[in-house]
Amino acid sequence: MSQRPIGVVGAGTMGQGIAQVLATSGFPVRLYDMAEDALERARGAIDKGLGKLVAKEKMSEGDRDAALERLAATTALEDLADCAVVIEAAPEQPELKERLFRDLSRLSEDAILASNTSSLSLTRLAAVAERPERVVGMHFFNPVPVLKLVEVIRAEQTSDDTVARIEALAEALGKTAVRVGDSPGFAVNRLLVPMINEAAFLVQEGAATPEAVDRAMKLGAAHPMGPLALADLIGLDVCLAIMEVLQEGFGDPKYRPCPLLRRMVDAGYLGRKSGRGFHAYS
Ligand code: CAA
Repeated sequence: MSQRPIGVVGAGTMGQGIAQVLATSGFPVRLYDMAEDALERARGAIDKGLGKLVAKEKMSEGDRDAALERLAATTALEDLADCAVVIEAAPEQPELKERLFRDLSRLSEDAILASNTSSLSLTRLAAVAERPERVVGMHFFNPVPVLKLVEVIRAEQTSDDTVARIEALAEALGKTAVRVGDSPGFAVNRLLVPMINEAAFLVQEGAATPEAVDRAMKLGAAHPMGPLALADLIGLDVCLAIMEVLQEGFGDPKYRPCPLLRRMVDAGYLGRKSGRGFHAYS
């Protein structure tokens, strides 16, 4: 697998992180985005991320340069035709992902098409692909270079060989794969995002400030960061979208999104990426 390139679709936060980890693990990478400026920003972020590792003497300058050389950016999806695996990390819009999977599956006879979707149905995505047995979920966690987990999600159609090859890739990236069924939110987000939603209810009800909620969960439950600081890191729009997927997928009112969360998204308070969420960022 290491000779043929690995494709990454989408140069946002997750796509950048995935491309960085692939390149530093020795894989030639083709990073695709339809927007040239998104690719430039991604290259800058990866450059900066690797620069920090060099400054901390965790990576040599030679290894950094070699990793950057393995990374090619493109705005042409056809450039991914010879990839062994393509990891899709586009925005969480079902129609967009379905179009990408349809197009990607026509580019190559044998590529594995993996999606980094945080909660959408892999079975539905696989259904639009030419070879649905080669579609699988490969869900990374933010920040990708730091967090060790990859959820491997098996669609109804996914073959054993596809699962085994994606688990081997996760291992080659220094990650630990955990198999999860194709159920809304998979494992991590089904647990994590309702907790964030409940934290938003605490704030909405005036029961605690965001600072108090976060301090409480850091010190009382040993979380590395509080749920609302985490919501700001993930993006409040992403958290809201995941709650909506859980609510629709299970039809259970316990997954109702907190109205405060919805209002903040409507106001454009999306967390770190917009400079303001439950906390302020300069
Ligand atoms: N990229 C690369 N490296 C990073 C990084 C980034 N964005 N952020 C932090 N790091 C590195 C730092 O350089 C540092 O490395 P060293 O130990 O070598 O110095 C290390 O990670 C620790 O960072 P810090 O000391 O700055 O800060 P910290 O110890 O407070 O850790 C954190 C920061 C890693 C973000 C930690 O707070 C954490 O793990 N938080 C929880 C994150 C989490 O739960 N993510 C999952 C979100 S859910 C998701 O992603 C799925 C989805 O579908 C929505």
